[in-house]
Amino acid sequence: MPTVLITGASRGLGLEFTRQYSADGWRVLAACRTPATARDLSALAAASDGRITVHPLDVEDHASIDRLATALATVPLDLLLNNAGSAGAPAPGESRAPSGFGQSRYDDWLTMFRVNVMGPMKMAEAFAPHLEAGPGGTIATLSSMLGSMTQNATGGVYAYRATKAGVNAVMKSMSIDLAPRGITVVTLHPGWVRTDMGGPTAPLDVATSVAQMRDTIAAVTPETSGRFLLHDGTPLPW
Ligand SMILES: NC(=O)c1ccc[n+]([C@@H]2O[C@H](COP(=O)([O-])OP(=O)(O)OC[C@H]3O[C@@H](n4cnc5c(N)ncnc54)[C@H](OP(=O)(O)O)[C@@H]3O)[C@@H](O)[C@H]2O)c1
Repeated sequence: MPTVLITGASRGLGLEFTRQYSADGWRVLAACRTPATARDLSALAAASDGRITVHPLDVEDHASIDRLATALATVPLDLLLNNAGSAGAPAPGESRAPSGFGQSRYDDWLTMFRVNVMGPMKMAEAFAPHLEAGPGGTIATLSSMLGSMTQNATGGVYAYRATKAGVNAVMKSMSIDLAPRGITVVTLHPGWVRTDMGGPTAPLDVATSVAQMRDTIAAVTPETSGRFLLHDGTPLPW
C-alpha cells in the first residue's frame, strides 16, 4: 500500500487529496493544524478502515514538523504533498487580503513566507529520509501560476506571488540536490479552484483539479523532476 503525507488536509484541496488517495487504496497520513476542529477530515478518517490517520502539524512550527518526523521514523513515504498554503488574512469585513501597491501588511508577508516557502522546505528536510526509505519518493508542492514571472500581466498580489515564486525556486534546487537520493520533485498549479482560498466563482471544482494533479504526480520521473506544471500536466513557464 503506497503512503502519502499531506499537509493542510483539513479542507479544500488537501481534504480532497486525502479523500481520493484513500479511495484509491493509499495509506494517507493527513496532517492539519487543529484535528479537533477538522470535522470533515475526522469523518473521512473514521470511515476509512484505518487507511487515513490524522496528525497535528503546523507548517510554521518546525518543532511540530520534527515531532511528526520522529513519530513516523519507521514509515517509508512514497509521496510528500506540500499542500498547506496561505494567501494572507483578509481585512475585517473583506473576503480577501489586500494585495495592491501601497496596501502591504508586512506581518502577513512573513506569515505567508513561513507557510508557503519555509514550510515546504522544512517538510522536505524533515521527511527526505522517509522518502528515501521507499521505492522512489516524490515531493509534490502546490505553488501557483501567480508565482510565474512570465505569466504576470496584471501586477499586484505582491506577497502571495513572491512566496509562490520563492517556493518554485526552492523546489527547483531541491530537484537537483535530491536526485542522487532517488527523490523526484514536482511543483504544481492546481488551477483556479472553488475552495475557501479560490472563492465560489472559481471555474474548477476540487475533485477535477485533484484527480488531474494525481495523474500528473504519478507521471513524474527522475528525467522530468524539477518541473512546474499545470494540474493537467502542461508545463508552465517560470
Ligand atoms: N484554490 C485555488 O484556486 C488555488 C490556486 C493556486 C494555488 N493554490 C494553492 O493550493 C494549496 C491549497 O489551497 P486551497 O485552495 O485548498 O486553500 P484553502 O482552502 O485556503 O486551505 C488551506 C489549507 O492550508 C492549511 N494551512 C494554512 N496555514 C497552515 C499552517 N501554518 N500549517 C498547516 N496547515 C496550514 C489550512 O489549514 P486550516 O484549516 O487549519 O486553516 C487549510 O487546510 C495552497 O498552497 C494554495 O496556495 C490554490
